[in-house]
Amino acid sequence: MLRRGGERPERGEKAVRNFVVGLIVGFLILPAGLYIYVRSGNAPVATAYAPMPFERMLARTALHARIAKEAPQKDLKTFTDADLVSGAQVYQTNCAFCHGLPGQPASAASAGMFPRAPQLFTADGTVTDDSVGVTYWKVNNGIRLSGMPGFHAALGEQQMWQVSALVARADNLPPAALDALRPGVVGVAAPAAGAQTIPAAPAGTTPTTPH
Ligand code: HEC
Repeated sequence: MLRRGGERPERGEKAVRNFVVGLIVGFLILPAGLYIYVRSGNAPVATAYAPMPFERMLARTALHARIAKEAPQKDLKTFTDADLVSGAQVYQTNCAFCHGLPGQPASAASAGMFPRAPQLFTADGTVTDDSVGVTYWKVNNGIRLSGMPGFHAALGEQQMWQVSALVARADNLPPAALDALRPGVVGVAAPAAGAQTIPAAPAGTTPTTPH
């Protein structure tokens, strides 16, 4: 009977040790499994493959949370028809290649992207439910690990607002803006803010790379 009393603390110690070892192994299994999966060559990496487990959920949730925190606000009603026509010109030169034009087949580039570029003038791809500020955030910053570029270095602030207003009103555009969105009508592209023009080399000279 004496031994039983002596056994008890030992058993308790063993249980604690097992618990701690279990905890450590449990913590290691997940990253180790992830590492093996990524190194195995079976993880989808081509644009045509199916999403990785949780990929879409993780990407969407993080994006929405960040935008909710940072998106600026502007009333869509404050944009004039002239703004929308300018927006259409910006769109033709900078966005149509991926996001398509009204009444046209989906852009071929989009089919080769993962995630695909939504066709912003179709019922499936429209962003008319998003506020213009949310779209402005995406145009300005781009969307990481997707083909969506951030345009902060390519376009001026006003151009980014105008093109955001255009797609936010994709289902309700004035005729002049729709006209500017016809295929082949690439309006006079407004020069990008801070854009530099490289002077053409004088005739008869070969341009050289500076050393
Ligand atoms: C090189 C291709 C490409 C170009 C050019 C491009 N985008 Fe995108 N864009 C994408 C892709 C791909 C996505 C999808 C990203 C995602 O699902 O995470 C996207 C997403 C978006 C979204 C979010 C759509 C949604 O459903 O939330 C908006 C809005 C958008 N782009 C607007 C524009 C505008 C405006 C321009 C031009 C100033 C532009 N994009 C230029 C590829 C492009």
